Amino acid sequence: MTSKSVLTDRIRPVTEQPLMSPGVDRASIGALVREFYARVREDERLGPIFTREITGDWGPHLEKMTNFWCSVMLKSGDYHGRPVPAHLKLEDVTEADFDTWLALFRATASDQFEPETAAVFIERAERIAASLKLAMFFRLDRAAACR
Ligand code: HEM
Repeated sequence: MTSKSVLTDRIRPVTEQPLMSPGVDRASIGALVREFYARVREDERLGPIFTREITGDWGPHLEKMTNFWCSVMLKSGDYHGRPVPAHLKLEDVTEADFDTWLALFRATASDQFEPETAAVFIERAERIAASLKLAMFFRLDRAAACR
């Protein structure tokens, strides 16, 4: 790390900086991901959507999502996927499904981490969910009607 990146970090919003917390590493993020998707699979609405999309071995999906959360929280650079196209193809998913997804995520993060740490995971999930929803549901014609 150079002093330049220290300077850059200082002017970045706090929420975009890597989470420097001793309890947050690849192992605890992996445990969060496994527990979260176990709960998702039990959910009566989300479970069937995931079961339909992820046929067979869940190992690669869980590994990908662990990479994703390590990149988000630790700036590890492990994730190289494209979340928007992966969700655009899910045509039956509604905005209400995102509320369910976020409720499960909030509960799982709060069960696993201290409140301050859970709050950072939750805030980032909410922001990413908001941008996925914009990509999936934003309609120019609806926005025009608000003017
Ligand atoms: C109702 C809400 C959601 C549903 C039903 C959903 C469903 C899915 C499904 C079925 C996949 C697997 C797609 C595939 O492998 O073909 C997927 C991938 C993924 N999801 Fe979601 N998701 C939701 C919300 C979110 C949110 C809020 C986030 C982030 C905070 C997220 C992050 C991701 C990522 C990173 C991938 C991997 C994309 C890739 O690189 O292939 N998802 N999601």
